[in-house]
Amino acid sequence: MSVHPETTKKLMISDLLRMKEEKTKLTMITAYSYPQALVVDEAGIDIILVGDSLGMVELGYKDTVPVTMDEMLHHTRAVVRAVKRAHVVGDLPFMSYNISMEQAVTNAGILYKDGGADSVKLEGGQDMAPVVRAIHKAGIPVFGHIGLTPQTAALLGGFKVQGKSLDDAKKVIDDALALEDAGAFALILEAIPKQLSKLITEKVKIPTVGIGGGVHCDGQVLVFHDLLGLFKRFTPKFVKVYADMYSLQIKAVKEFIDDVQKNRFPGDEHSFTMKEEDLRGLE
Ligand code: KIV
Repeated sequence: MSVHPETTKKLMISDLLRMKEEKTKLTMITAYSYPQALVVDEAGIDIILVGDSLGMVELGYKDTVPVTMDEMLHHTRAVVRAVKRAHVVGDLPFMSYNISMEQAVTNAGILYKDGGADSVKLEGGQDMAPVVRAIHKAGIPVFGHIGLTPQTAALLGGFKVQGKSLDDAKKVIDDALALEDAGAFALILEAIPKQLSKLITEKVKIPTVGIGGGVHCDGQVLVFHDLLGLFKRFTPKFVKVYADMYSLQIKAVKEFIDDVQKNRFPGDEHSFTMKEEDLRGLE
Protein backbone atom coordinates (compact mmCIF):
# COMPACT_ATOMS: atom_id res chain seq x y z
CA MET A 1 0.00 0.00 0.00
CA SER A 2 1.51 3.34 -0.94
CA VAL A 3 1.41 6.47 1.17
CA HIS A 4 -0.60 9.29 -0.37
CA PRO A 5 -0.18 12.95 0.60
CA GLU A 6 -3.99 13.35 0.75
CA THR A 7 -4.05 11.40 4.00
CA THR A 8 -3.24 13.41 7.12
CA LYS A 9 -2.22 10.31 9.06
CA LYS A 10 1.21 10.85 10.59
CA LEU A 11 3.96 9.08 8.64
CA MET A 12 5.81 6.47 10.64
CA ILE A 13 9.35 5.22 10.02
CA SER A 14 7.79 1.95 8.81
CA ASP A 15 5.99 3.99 6.09
CA LEU A 16 9.29 5.52 4.96
CA LEU A 17 10.96 2.10 4.80
CA ARG A 18 8.00 0.71 2.86
CA MET A 19 8.25 3.58 0.39
CA LYS A 20 11.82 2.50 -0.41
CA GLU A 21 10.67 -1.08 -0.92
CA GLU A 22 7.83 0.06 -3.18
CA LYS A 23 10.14 2.45 -5.03
CA THR A 24 7.94 5.41 -4.12
CA LYS A 25 10.19 8.48 -4.06
CA LEU A 26 10.53 10.21 -0.70
CA THR A 27 10.27 13.99 -0.57
CA MET A 28 11.98 16.00 2.13
CA ILE A 29 12.41 19.72 2.72
CA THR A 30 13.72 21.88 5.52
CA ALA A 31 11.46 24.17 7.56
CA TYR A 32 12.29 26.27 10.57
CA SER A 33 9.07 28.03 11.57
CA TYR A 34 5.36 27.37 12.16
CA PRO A 35 4.16 29.01 8.92
CA GLN A 36 6.82 27.30 6.79
CA ALA A 37 5.92 23.92 8.29
CA LEU A 38 2.19 24.53 7.70
CA VAL A 39 2.92 25.16 4.01
CA VAL A 40 5.18 22.18 3.35
CA ASP A 41 2.99 19.78 5.34
CA GLU A 42 -0.14 20.92 3.50
CA ALA A 43 1.72 20.54 0.19
CA GLY A 44 2.25 16.87 1.05
CA ILE A 45 5.98 16.62 1.79
CA ASP A 46 6.94 13.33 3.50
CA ILE A 47 9.80 14.47 5.75
CA ILE A 48 10.51 17.89 7.25
CA LEU A 49 14.04 18.55 8.44
CA VAL A 50 14.52 21.29 11.00
CA GLY A 51 18.05 21.59 9.68
CA ASP A 52 20.95 23.44 11.21
CA SER A 53 20.96 25.32 7.89
CA LEU A 54 18.68 27.42 10.11
CA GLY A 55 21.86 29.23 11.11
CA MET A 56 22.53 30.46 7.58
CA VAL A 57 19.09 31.00 6.07
CA GLU A 58 17.18 32.27 9.13
CA LEU A 59 19.72 33.50 11.68
CA GLY A 60 22.31 35.13 9.41
CA TYR A 61 25.36 33.12 10.50
CA LYS A 62 28.17 32.56 8.00
CA ASP A 63 27.81 28.77 8.27
CA THR A 64 26.15 26.13 10.46
CA VAL A 65 28.94 25.91 13.05
CA PRO A 66 27.60 28.54 15.54
CA VAL A 67 24.08 27.03 15.77
CA THR A 68 23.15 26.08 19.34
CA MET A 69 20.91 23.43 20.91
CA ASP A 70 18.65 26.20 22.29
CA GLU A 71 18.12 27.56 18.77
CA MET A 72 17.42 24.10 17.35
CA LEU A 73 15.00 23.31 20.15
CA HIS A 74 13.12 26.60 19.74
CA HIS A 75 12.62 26.07 15.99
CA THR A 76 11.91 22.34 16.23
CA ARG A 77 9.05 23.07 18.63
CA ALA A 78 7.56 25.65 16.28
CA VAL A 79 7.66 23.23 13.33
CA VAL A 80 6.24 20.33 15.33
CA ARG A 81 3.24 22.47 16.37
CA ALA A 82 2.28 22.89 12.70
CA VAL A 83 2.73 19.38 11.34
CA LYS A 84 0.00 16.79 10.94
CA ARG A 85 1.41 14.29 8.44
CA ALA A 86 5.15 14.67 7.75
CA HIS A 87 7.89 12.94 9.72
CA VAL A 88 9.84 15.70 11.53
CA VAL A 89 13.62 15.36 11.91
CA GLY A 90 15.47 17.55 14.40
CA ASP A 91 19.09 18.29 13.44
CA LEU A 92 21.76 18.00 16.13
CA PRO A 93 24.01 21.07 15.81
CA PHE A 94 27.81 21.00 15.77
CA MET A 95 29.36 20.13 19.14
CA SER A 96 26.08 18.87 20.57
CA TYR A 97 27.05 15.21 19.96
CA ASN A 98 30.81 15.30 19.40
CA ILE A 99 32.11 15.47 22.98
CA SER A 100 30.85 12.30 24.64
CA MET A 101 28.29 9.56 24.18
CA GLU A 102 26.40 10.87 27.20
CA GLN A 103 26.27 14.37 25.73
CA ALA A 104 25.03 12.99 22.39
CA VAL A 105 22.24 10.89 23.94
CA THR A 106 21.21 13.74 26.24
CA ASN A 107 20.94 16.25 23.37
CA ALA A 108 19.18 13.77 21.08
CA GLY A 109 16.73 13.29 23.95
CA ILE A 110 16.16 17.04 24.20
CA LEU A 111 15.18 17.38 20.51
CA TYR A 112 13.09 14.19 20.65
CA LYS A 113 11.41 14.55 24.05
CA ASP A 114 11.26 18.31 24.66
CA GLY A 115 11.23 19.34 20.99
CA GLY A 116 8.76 16.72 19.83
CA ALA A 117 10.82 15.68 16.76
CA ASP A 118 10.11 12.21 15.40
CA SER A 119 13.83 11.52 14.96
CA VAL A 120 17.20 13.26 15.10
CA LYS A 121 19.88 13.72 12.45
CA LEU A 122 23.62 13.92 12.88
CA GLU A 123 26.54 14.25 10.48
CA GLY A 124 29.36 11.74 10.08
CA GLY A 125 30.12 8.18 8.97
CA GLN A 126 32.11 5.35 10.55
CA ASP A 127 33.51 7.62 13.29
CA MET A 128 30.00 8.52 14.36
CA ALA A 129 28.59 4.97 14.21
CA PRO A 130 29.05 4.36 17.97
CA VAL A 131 27.15 7.59 18.68
CA VAL A 132 24.32 6.58 16.33
CA ARG A 133 24.20 3.18 18.05
CA ALA A 134 23.98 4.76 21.51
CA ILE A 135 21.17 7.16 20.53
CA HIS A 136 19.31 4.35 18.75
CA LYS A 137 19.72 2.12 21.82
CA ALA A 138 18.23 4.89 23.94
CA GLY A 139 15.10 4.57 21.80
CA ILE A 140 15.55 7.57 19.53
CA PRO A 141 15.47 7.06 15.73
CA VAL A 142 18.54 8.46 13.95
CA PHE A 143 18.83 9.86 10.42
CA GLY A 144 22.46 9.71 9.20
CA HIS A 145 24.18 12.30 6.99
CA ILE A 146 27.27 11.40 4.94
CA GLY A 147 29.22 12.65 1.94
CA LEU A 148 29.66 16.39 2.35
CA THR A 149 29.07 17.13 6.03
CA PRO A 150 28.83 20.94 6.34
CA GLN A 151 29.53 21.06 10.09
CA THR A 152 33.02 19.61 9.48
CA ALA A 153 33.57 21.03 5.98
CA ALA A 154 36.87 22.55 7.17
CA LEU A 155 38.29 19.02 7.47
CA LEU A 156 37.00 18.09 4.00
CA GLY A 157 38.78 20.95 2.26
CA GLY A 158 35.65 23.13 2.12
CA PHE A 159 32.23 22.63 0.53
CA LYS A 160 33.42 20.10 -2.07
CA VAL A 161 31.93 17.07 -3.77
CA GLN A 162 32.96 13.95 -1.81
CA GLY A 163 33.70 10.38 -2.93
CA LYS A 164 35.07 11.20 -6.37
CA SER A 165 38.21 9.02 -6.24
CA LEU A 166 38.14 5.23 -5.78
CA ASP A 167 39.44 5.41 -2.20
CA ASP A 168 37.10 8.24 -1.22
CA ALA A 169 34.13 6.45 -2.79
CA LYS A 170 34.96 3.27 -0.82
CA LYS A 171 35.03 5.34 2.37
CA VAL A 172 31.57 6.80 1.68
CA ILE A 173 30.20 3.28 1.05
CA ASP A 174 31.74 2.07 4.32
CA ASP A 175 30.22 5.09 6.08
CA ALA A 176 26.77 4.17 4.78
CA LEU A 177 27.12 0.52 5.81
CA ALA A 178 28.45 1.44 9.26
CA LEU A 179 25.53 3.79 9.93
CA GLU A 180 22.97 1.25 8.76
CA ASP A 181 24.58 -1.35 11.01
CA ALA A 182 24.52 1.11 13.94
CA GLY A 183 20.75 1.49 13.57
CA ALA A 184 20.24 4.60 11.42
CA PHE A 185 16.83 4.39 9.71
CA ALA A 186 17.72 6.63 6.74
CA LEU A 187 20.68 8.47 5.23
CA ILE A 188 21.25 11.87 3.67
CA LEU A 189 23.77 11.59 0.81
CA GLU A 190 25.14 15.08 0.25
CA ALA A 191 27.26 16.14 -2.75
CA ILE A 192 28.53 12.78 -4.00
CA PRO A 193 28.64 11.44 -7.58
CA LYS A 194 25.32 10.01 -8.74
CA GLN A 195 26.90 6.63 -9.58
CA LEU A 196 28.08 6.34 -5.97
CA SER A 197 24.59 7.23 -4.64
CA LYS A 198 23.15 4.50 -6.88
CA LEU A 199 25.54 1.91 -5.47
CA ILE A 200 24.85 2.94 -1.87
CA THR A 201 21.09 3.04 -2.46
CA GLU A 202 21.25 -0.53 -3.78
CA LYS A 203 23.51 -1.73 -0.96
CA VAL A 204 21.50 -0.45 2.02
CA LYS A 205 17.98 -1.43 3.04
CA ILE A 206 17.28 1.99 4.57
CA PRO A 207 16.14 4.94 2.42
CA THR A 208 18.75 7.30 0.99
CA VAL A 209 17.79 10.95 0.49
CA GLY A 210 20.00 12.96 -1.81
CA ILE A 211 21.03 16.59 -1.84
CA GLY A 212 23.49 16.80 -4.69
CA GLY A 213 23.41 13.00 -4.77
CA GLY A 214 21.72 12.53 -8.15
CA VAL A 215 18.50 10.92 -9.25
CA HIS A 216 19.09 7.37 -8.01
CA CYS A 217 18.55 8.12 -4.32
CA ASP A 218 15.31 6.91 -2.75
CA GLY A 219 14.32 10.52 -2.15
CA GLN A 220 15.43 14.14 -2.49
CA VAL A 221 15.82 16.99 -0.03
CA LEU A 222 16.20 20.72 -0.59
CA VAL A 223 16.49 23.68 1.74
CA PHE A 224 13.18 25.62 1.85
CA HIS A 225 14.86 28.97 1.10
CA ASP A 226 16.80 27.53 -1.87
CA LEU A 227 13.74 25.93 -3.46
CA LEU A 228 11.69 29.12 -3.09
CA GLY A 229 14.43 31.54 -4.11
CA LEU A 230 14.54 33.19 -0.68
CA PHE A 231 18.28 32.93 -0.08
CA LYS A 232 20.44 34.99 -2.42
CA ARG A 233 23.92 34.66 -0.85
CA PHE A 234 24.77 31.65 -3.02
CA THR A 235 22.98 28.79 -4.78
CA PRO A 236 24.77 25.42 -4.97
CA LYS A 237 24.78 23.54 -8.31
CA PHE A 238 22.42 20.87 -6.92
CA VAL A 239 19.62 23.33 -6.15
CA LYS A 240 16.63 23.76 -8.43
CA VAL A 241 14.95 27.09 -7.72
CA TYR A 242 11.17 26.75 -8.17
CA ALA A 243 10.12 30.33 -7.41
CA ASP A 244 11.56 33.80 -6.91
CA MET A 245 9.95 34.56 -3.58
CA TYR A 246 12.68 37.07 -2.67
CA SER A 247 11.70 39.34 -5.55
CA LEU A 248 7.98 38.77 -4.92
CA GLN A 249 8.40 39.91 -1.31
CA ILE A 250 10.40 43.01 -2.32
CA LYS A 251 7.68 43.85 -4.86
CA ALA A 252 4.89 43.47 -2.26
CA VAL A 253 6.70 45.59 0.36
CA LYS A 254 7.51 48.27 -2.25
CA GLU A 255 3.83 48.40 -3.26
CA PHE A 256 2.89 48.88 0.41
CA ILE A 257 5.42 51.74 0.78
CA ASP A 258 4.08 53.37 -2.38
CA ASP A 259 0.42 52.93 -1.33
CA VAL A 260 1.08 54.53 2.08
CA GLN A 261 3.06 57.40 0.60
CA LYS A 262 0.33 58.10 -1.96
CA ASN A 263 -2.60 57.69 0.48
CA ARG A 264 -3.91 54.62 -1.34
CA PHE A 265 -3.71 52.54 1.83
CA PRO A 266 -5.66 52.13 4.03
CA GLY A 267 -8.81 52.33 1.91
CA ASP A 268 -12.35 52.43 3.30
CA GLU A 269 -12.43 48.63 3.21
CA HIS A 270 -9.56 48.53 5.73
CA SER A 271 -10.94 51.28 8.00
CA PHE A 272 -13.48 51.48 10.84
CA THR A 273 -16.21 54.15 11.01
CA MET A 274 -18.45 55.57 13.73
CA LYS A 275 -21.99 56.86 13.35
CA GLU A 276 -22.31 60.46 12.03
CA GLU A 277 -24.46 61.54 15.03
CA ASP A 278 -21.82 60.29 17.51
CA LEU A 279 -19.19 62.06 15.50
CA ARG A 280 -21.16 65.34 15.71
CA GLY A 281 -21.23 64.91 19.49
CA LEU A 282 -17.48 65.10 19.48
CA GLU A 283 -17.36 68.44 17.64
O1 KIV B 1 20.73 21.46 7.73
C1 KIV B 1 20.30 21.12 6.62
O2 KIV B 1 19.50 21.82 5.99
C2 KIV B 1 20.77 19.87 6.05
C3 KIV B 1 20.35 19.58 4.65
C4 KIV B 1 21.22 20.29 3.72
C5 KIV B 1 20.30 18.11 4.39
O3 KIV B 1 21.48 19.14 6.67
